[in-house]
Amino acid sequence: MLIRTGRHGFEQPLASEITPRAVHEDRRQLLKWMATGAAGAALATWAQREAFAQQVQRPGKLTPISSVRSAVPGAVTMEKVTEYKDASTYNNYYEFGTDKADPAESAHTLKTRPWTVEVEGLVKKPGKYAIDDLQKLAPQEERIYRLRCVEGWSMVVPWVGYSLSKLIEKVEPQGNAKFVEFVTLADPKTMPGVNSRVLDWPYTEGLRIDEAMHPLTLLGFGMYGEVLPNQNGAPVRVVVPWKYGYKSAKSIVKIRFVEQMPHTAWNKAAANEYGFYSNVNPNVDHPRWSQATERRIGEDGLFAKKRKTLMFNGYEPQVGQLYAGMDLKKNF
Ligand code: MTE
Repeated sequence: MLIRTGRHGFEQPLASEITPRAVHEDRRQLLKWMATGAAGAALATWAQREAFAQQVQRPGKLTPISSVRSAVPGAVTMEKVTEYKDASTYNNYYEFGTDKADPAESAHTLKTRPWTVEVEGLVKKPGKYAIDDLQKLAPQEERIYRLRCVEGWSMVVPWVGYSLSKLIEKVEPQGNAKFVEFVTLADPKTMPGVNSRVLDWPYTEGLRIDEAMHPLTLLGFGMYGEVLPNQNGAPVRVVVPWKYGYKSAKSIVKIRFVEQMPHTAWNKAAANEYGFYSNVNPNVDHPRWSQATERRIGEDGLFAKKRKTLMFNGYEPQVGQLYAGMDLKKNF
């Protein structure tokens, strides 16, 4: 039940309704795995990762962050939520290495306070936001999104944040602002991966302004009822659920409004593999990976069936109109 409070009539949850992380944890998968006795290298690898996950993440370690369930259409999937230990130990965050376990192992060096996000470019009200002020700009909502990585795996994560549109409305884009660019931190002192040439740092991403304004595009500060762990993009990231995971830039320091389509880190690295739009599309394969099916992290038993990938990652009713009339094979 929600109660209405405050000067602005924001809805606040009862304390008992804020979803604690423990509720999201589910040990059934682990027990099932043990019961099947699945042997061999796959189990060894899994057991290693499991041991690592248990060691790195202890429930209740991070600051709780309160939120209300989002009322944005499509923002709360009823699918089973991925376990916290998986979502926080199987990561892509190349600034901390290219192995999935690297970020959870190394991202403790990231200093998330003080932190400033600069809003610049074609806006009437540019400015610098201290992270704690940015976080308070709008009421925090819980959104349970599917996240589909171009590598063929997916997760279901309860994020905490608010629609990026709330910030965009505040800064008042000028008429010629057509795109939004996200620039993320690249600090060679605290981010070992930045010393490698795997990407052209800083990691940047971008959205068309109507995509950035879509209510499902989240400016995220937390997950599983707590502030983001560093490896998931603390202290602030975007989450764009109908696009491949790499569009969801982590640890943002600049949000820039521009007229021309911005270059993105992955597009610069391999333009034939990563287009600007990057909408999840089972009919358009990546040159190296089929996009027709996906493996849900946490369901990766030896005989686990793959899931069919859905157009726009299942968010077609909400976002399909944004691409009406566009050739999605060309605009991949
Ligand atoms: N943001 C930065 N700054 N650096 C990165 O390497 N990786 C992207 C995206 N954001 C990445 C990033 C990719 S490839 C994916 S799949 C998602 O983050 C993974 O988010 P998660 O680790 O929270 O699941």
